[in-house]
Amino acid sequence: MPDTTPTPAPTPAPAHVRQGSSIGQPLTRRDGLLKVTGAARYAADNHPPGMLYAVLAVSSIARGRVASLDVPAAKAHPGVVEVMTPANAPPLAQDPDAKNNPFMFRLDLLQNDRVRYPNQPIAVVVAETLEAATEGALLLAPRYEAEPARTGLDSAESFVPPGVGVGNPPEAHRGDVAAGLAGAAIRIEATYETPAQYHNAMEPHAIVAAWDGDALQIDTPSQGMAMAQGRIAGLFGIAPETIHIRSPFLGGGFGSKGMISGPQVLGIMAARLVDRPVKLVLRREQMFGPVGHRAPTRQTLRMGTDRDGALTAIDHHAKTTSSTFDDFFEPAADASHTLYASPAIATSHEAVRLDTGTPLFMRAPGEASGSIALESAIDEMALACGMDPLAFRLKNYAEAEPISGKPFSSKALRQCYTQGAERFGWAQRPLAPRTMRDEAGLLVGWGMGTATFPALMFAAKARAVLRADGTGLMETGAHDMGQGAWTALAQIAADGLGLALDRIEFRSGSSDLPDAGIAGGSAHTATAGMALHGAGADVIAKLADLATSDERSPLFGAGNAGVIAREGRLHRRDDEGRSEGYADILARAGLAEIEGSGQGAADPVAQAAYAMHAHGAVFAEVKVDPDLGQVRVSRLVGAFAAGTIINPRLVQSQYYGGMIWGVSFALHEHAVIDQRSGRPMNPNLAEYHVPVNADVPSLEAILVEERDPHVNALGIKGVGEIGVTGTAGAIANAVWHATGVRVRRFPIALESLIGGGS
Ligand code: MOS
Repeated sequence: MPDTTPTPAPTPAPAHVRQGSSIGQPLTRRDGLLKVTGAARYAADNHPPGMLYAVLAVSSIARGRVASLDVPAAKAHPGVVEVMTPANAPPLAQDPDAKNNPFMFRLDLLQNDRVRYPNQPIAVVVAETLEAATEGALLLAPRYEAEPARTGLDSAESFVPPGVGVGNPPEAHRGDVAAGLAGAAIRIEATYETPAQYHNAMEPHAIVAAWDGDALQIDTPSQGMAMAQGRIAGLFGIAPETIHIRSPFLGGGFGSKGMISGPQVLGIMAARLVDRPVKLVLRREQMFGPVGHRAPTRQTLRMGTDRDGALTAIDHHAKTTSSTFDDFFEPAADASHTLYASPAIATSHEAVRLDTGTPLFMRAPGEASGSIALESAIDEMALACGMDPLAFRLKNYAEAEPISGKPFSSKALRQCYTQGAERFGWAQRPLAPRTMRDEAGLLVGWGMGTATFPALMFAAKARAVLRADGTGLMETGAHDMGQGAWTALAQIAADGLGLALDRIEFRSGSSDLPDAGIAGGSAHTATAGMALHGAGADVIAKLADLATSDERSPLFGAGNAGVIAREGRLHRRDDEGRSEGYADILARAGLAEIEGSGQGAADPVAQAAYAMHAHGAVFAEVKVDPDLGQVRVSRLVGAFAAGTIINPRLVQSQYYGGMIWGVSFALHEHAVIDQRSGRPMNPNLAEYHVPVNADVPSLEAILVEERDPHVNALGIKGVGEIGVTGTAGAIANAVWHATGVRVRRFPIALESLIGGGS
């Protein structure tokens, strides 16, 4: 039996540290002190003069109509100022059910008395105090005409969704899967189920809204301020520029704050109705409905290999759910598009409509639920071939993206496999399950999973100013969900201007700054970062023009391409001893400042030529109580390659966060839906389980070197979501290895393990 106790060793020194630049430095969060001292102002911390408190009343049925609300009782309660219902809600300029792009939620804004999911807002009570508003909401005592709730994957007729995720085709294939399966020497078929999950950011959705005529001031957590501005402008019939959103900090978002939600808009409507500033904060249980969730899936994987364990076919079919009134479909099967080099691959989706709030992207949408099934199936396939799971993956991972046939812009997956395996000690893993025990008699198992996430970019803008004193200002309206955007983007900004970090002012988190796009799809650093990089380059080019065309400058005649910017000076490339400080160049030109702008966007030419993804490999050790079935993850080692690492400390933290989500997916998270009422039965953090420190004893994340020359000029890929994708499958596979029981329903429950195995 191998020794399963890891040798305690310090985490290796962060790679990528470079001298003379901010990019690559393992800086702590610049806003860390503000956060740990409570000085960081989150949306709900704002209290403009005259502010009232709004509390939602939400439906306790899943489907039907609100027959009555006792508005007089609520209004008679001391401190209650107003009750907003469909009868008196301010008119909107746009139908909340209209949708003209996939980045729009259809919203419940009291447009009628229909109830289409549990916890749907049905009224808003506004009062002088939170207590009065809460009591007023209780006094509404709604009565309903309820209709039977449709719940579960089998409760309605299924259909092929028009698109999955944000507009991906619901079906895709390459090669002949039927022939690949028919001709296979070894085949497997298995069906996996994943539950509904809710984002559950620590900070609930909150808004403080204040109208001044047609001007609107909003404090609210947002992953996409410009998109929110546009949506609110449409709903209220006002110009986007008259809306100012401040969103300096988010207490987590995970996708649920990507698009402005109904409750946030209700806060704005309430403020309009009472003509005073209003604060509305969701209670935890109210987050289980109107602000999105990860839809459940049932996924069937069929695979075949030849006699040597080379894949001949992958067929990945996913069934999922959406609401009755909107169109988000979890793209679970798409996980099979990118990893394994089968000559034949088919993916397909079907969906049913349920009486549920609309699902939404939730951290690694599609990849998270899809990869737990795919990585479990790969493990089952390896076992059927009698092969070690790592050897099987090393044999079958793709050198070019299998579904599109495009080469990867870069790929360091082999290094992730080998570095992760070495660090973990995988070579000592016995092939057979249920062969390792620790000193306490617990079953020990080792499993692995492959991680991948696309390297996306959206569109962003940034503005840069170089001031007469040689300091700089960089602006972009980026969003810090806790991932460290304030820090990582400032590092890129400083390098863009060739200044030390303490010589620049970095402004972010407000909608009156240039649009930084959406903080989603693990694309924010690349997108907003490239905009900042471009803005810096624009300023430096103008500065270089001034210097190199001026006979009095030591840089005269060097040409733009002939200078580099570093530490507040321009240097001749061919003779670095010849240089001039920024302030001197500006002073001689008589300029108070130079301004520049930049844009970040995907390069369509590169995207047409290459498939762009980050990659990784995760290795898990679990310990399972043989009598009670209790599972603990005792060790996780992830190795990830995600291009240029802007800040290794923050990136490691993102990987840890993703890996903990993987633990959560495999073992904890499960929104339990009452099949009679359709209501979520555990809408709280006591019964909706997420891992705590005791659930995650040892984490390691290895930053594997990767230079991607095509993804963008800085070589940045995303790091926020990939950690979820390999980890959940690795844990499921480790549970099999510990127990000999293959659990295909997630989260893995005690009862699935008791009495199983031999
Ligand atoms: Mo993330 S689900 O792209 O916010």
